Amino acid sequence: MREGTATLIRREDYCAPAFWIRTVDLTFDLDPAKTLVTSKMQLERNAAVAHGALRLHGEELNVLRVLINGESVSFRQEGHELIIDNVPDADFALEIRNTCAPDKNTALSGLYTSGGSFFTQCEAEGFRRITYFLDRPDVMAIYTVLLRADKAKFPVLLSNGNLLDSGDLDNGRHFAKWHDPFPKPSYLFALVAGDLVAREQRVRTRAGKDHLLQVFVRRGDLEKTEHAMNSLIASIVWDEARFGLPLDLERFMVVGVSDFNMGAMENKGLNIFNTSALLASPATATDADFARIESIVAHEYFHNWTGNRVTCRDWFQLSLKEGLTVFRDQEFSMDMAGGASARAVCRIQDVRALRASQFPEDSGAMAHPVRPDTFVEINNFYTPTVYEKGSEVVRMYQTLVGRAGFEKGLKLYFERHDGQAVTCDDFAAAIAAANPGSALSTRLDNFKRWYSQAGTPRVQARGVYDAAAQTYTLTLKQHNPATPGQEHKLPQVIPVALGLLSAEGQALPLQLQGEDQAAGLERVIVLDEAEQSFVFTNLASQPVPSLLRGFSAPVVLDDGLSDADLLVLLQHDADAFNRWEASQRLALNRILAAVRSGSALQLDSAFIEAMRAVLRHPELDAAFKDLALTLPGEGYIAEQLEVVDPQAIHAAVEAARSQLAQALREDWIEAFEANQIQGGYTPDPVSSGKRALANLALSMLVLDAARSGDTVWPGRAYQRFKDAGNMTERLGALSALVNAHAELAEPALARFHELFKDDALVIDKWFALQGRTPELDGKSFARVKQLTQHPDFTLKNPNRARSLISSLCMFNPAAFHRADAAGYVFWAEQVLALDAINPQIASRLARAMDRWTTLAQPYRSAALEAIRRVAAKPDLSSDVREVIDRALE
Ligand code: PHE
Ligand code: ZN
Repeated sequence: MREGTATLIRREDYCAPAFWIRTVDLTFDLDPAKTLVTSKMQLERNAAVAHGALRLHGEELNVLRVLINGESVSFRQEGHELIIDNVPDADFALEIRNTCAPDKNTALSGLYTSGGSFFTQCEAEGFRRITYFLDRPDVMAIYTVLLRADKAKFPVLLSNGNLLDSGDLDNGRHFAKWHDPFPKPSYLFALVAGDLVAREQRVRTRAGKDHLLQVFVRRGDLEKTEHAMNSLIASIVWDEARFGLPLDLERFMVVGVSDFNMGAMENKGLNIFNTSALLASPATATDADFARIESIVAHEYFHNWTGNRVTCRDWFQLSLKEGLTVFRDQEFSMDMAGGASARAVCRIQDVRALRASQFPEDSGAMAHPVRPDTFVEINNFYTPTVYEKGSEVVRMYQTLVGRAGFEKGLKLYFERHDGQAVTCDDFAAAIAAANPGSALSTRLDNFKRWYSQAGTPRVQARGVYDAAAQTYTLTLKQHNPATPGQEHKLPQVIPVALGLLSAEGQALPLQLQGEDQAAGLERVIVLDEAEQSFVFTNLASQPVPSLLRGFSAPVVLDDGLSDADLLVLLQHDADAFNRWEASQRLALNRILAAVRSGSALQLDSAFIEAMRAVLRHPELDAAFKDLALTLPGEGYIAEQLEVVDPQAIHAAVEAARSQLAQALREDWIEAFEANQIQGGYTPDPVSSGKRALANLALSMLVLDAARSGDTVWPGRAYQRFKDAGNMTERLGALSALVNAHAELAEPALARFHELFKDDALVIDKWFALQGRTPELDGKSFARVKQLTQHPDFTLKNPNRARSLISSLCMFNPAAFHRADAAGYVFWAEQVLALDAINPQIASRLARAMDRWTTLAQPYRSAALEAIRRVAAKPDLSSDVREVIDRALE
């Protein structure tokens, strides 16, 4: 099944295709065991490229015949290519007939079946598993698709674009014919066939055009699609209002599928979603699920312009569409959230996710630039760097040219490139050209290092106050550590949003030396050299700097602030992000000190009182309090250390949690009681924030009960778990019991399973909760191993595999990194087992070992042994092989 040695593909080797495919007519005779595909294409030589043979991509296909202009021609097959040596010089018609086997497709790439229906997934290179094609994003064609299938089993037949015709055929079969008027790359092709039902909504856009919106799901899931539909409508309205980008299709369809490798896919007019990113009801989905669904529905919808109308020339440009579209969905979520505080909460959550996933990637074996230079398997580059760091890069454009300037830039980008497949350079050029003389345009070449240099830049900031001159000199230095293949880095353009506070917490006017007057209380300075100084004048006393407000650049900041300074920021900073940051830094300092010194953590009263003040603050939102009182994650803490002992980190975090639980017990009780919500469930930011804080308070109270022997709070948690009117509260109460290893956890888990045994997405939560339970005497690890034998467990469904295995290996460091190496042995077994089923999912799990070189002994040696065990398997997929090879480099 797997052949040849994996080849390294280089960005610099890009060549335009030798042929264009202008139109394609596809006919599918759908059958789960063997589907017949007939593809009729109009081809044209690319005059700009020297003549050569026609080489089409194809994988795991059975070719039946190849015709050119109606005549059969000879062809060869080499590896994953079908080669036709003699093709006419003039335009010609190419017809290919082949079969594929959807039922056997466990990789979920190409055409596959799930729950008895057909689905496709073509990004990045899945179309070649359906039929032979020039399966590359710069070949854009107009598609017409005829679907034929058994009518009783597959009553709904969908593909991209508009429905031209449909009707009955002989033998109980029927057909539907679809036409997509927009030229598109093959990765945006999709078809769906099955017994599905739809929620429908008609909308009228600003231009007065009517559109039909449909959300297709399995029978029985219809009432869980209301939130997705609302999110879709909100996305349509927002994209028109904010960026002037309208819906360009008469019909826009969204379909849910239970077996899916990723969150969702932006196929033109026919988005396909993992049900986990689509279905929600108050009883089965948490507030976080509701928020995630809103943002993913928006993300896929926004791709219609950023990705589909303008697409990527080659896969190295992936961030062109993904970074930009993540940026757009983050902006959307912030606008939907409402006021300044709710926006800040969104930003904090995004940055927390970036630090938890992208920062480790940037300093690990798989580090790569936002626009990678090489890859073996493109599926390995759907990464936090391409997505989340890519979004931060787009955000910096906006910071440098302003919101209005960014909108102008985007407008020019579409004027220049609508209907084209382009590069990140084209995007940068458009934003710069629309903003001549801006802080971006004057530094464009330097700014573009964000695309070419991997690694998270380190920024050091030190201020010197001169009382006599009343000046404050802020000196910023940047340094970007070496990453694999990139020893030396050049300085990057780093926008630093900042403010200065007096020791009493008052915002101070910002006047730079040479300016006539102060320019506001916040401004953006741009660091674009290795070291620069900025002199602020007219300052009557030593200020406290609030730097990198709103996380204005994806860097690690060392501002050298003392605890006293951080306490000023925590209490007074006008920037809510930096208030939160101060809370995290105060906690981090203490945890790191304990880990580094090897002594037991003992929280001091200054810290405890600061946390109490946040918790009791009369004005702060519950959502903010929840974020400020949540300790930094163990993964993020590990990133701060040169040598990582996961057990020592876990011990320090557990100590901090239990001391906070104990010291603030009365405050937690009050917070729990003050944040109860009466009345019906809505997932709005205010209610979600209250539920989050109530859940945190409850978890602290149950944790403290485990220490004190109190039975009241575990009892209350169990009661709440039983009576909860929504999943957020139910799962919150269950988690409080499980994470504290309370006795009532067992009956609660059993009851939860019984209650939701027929709802796969909820059972995923049940597995995930147990996969992530903080380790205590090896119990959590033992439980995961045992759960792999549970009748509900399977590696074949990606959501289920992730819910248990990834939860342990990627999100539960203390249960995973064991002195006896059992966690690593388990990891190796699961990677190998998964690789035989689904290489993409296996490869993602393989990345749990990205950072093995920083581990302390005995973990380091044991990890290496496990990686070598996986490497020793001769027929690994190229996906896993690339990750493992990089880990061993
Ligand atoms: N392009 C999808 C998105 O980000 C992600 C995806 C990639 C889905 C590859 C499936 C396969 O919206
Ligand atoms: Zn995307």
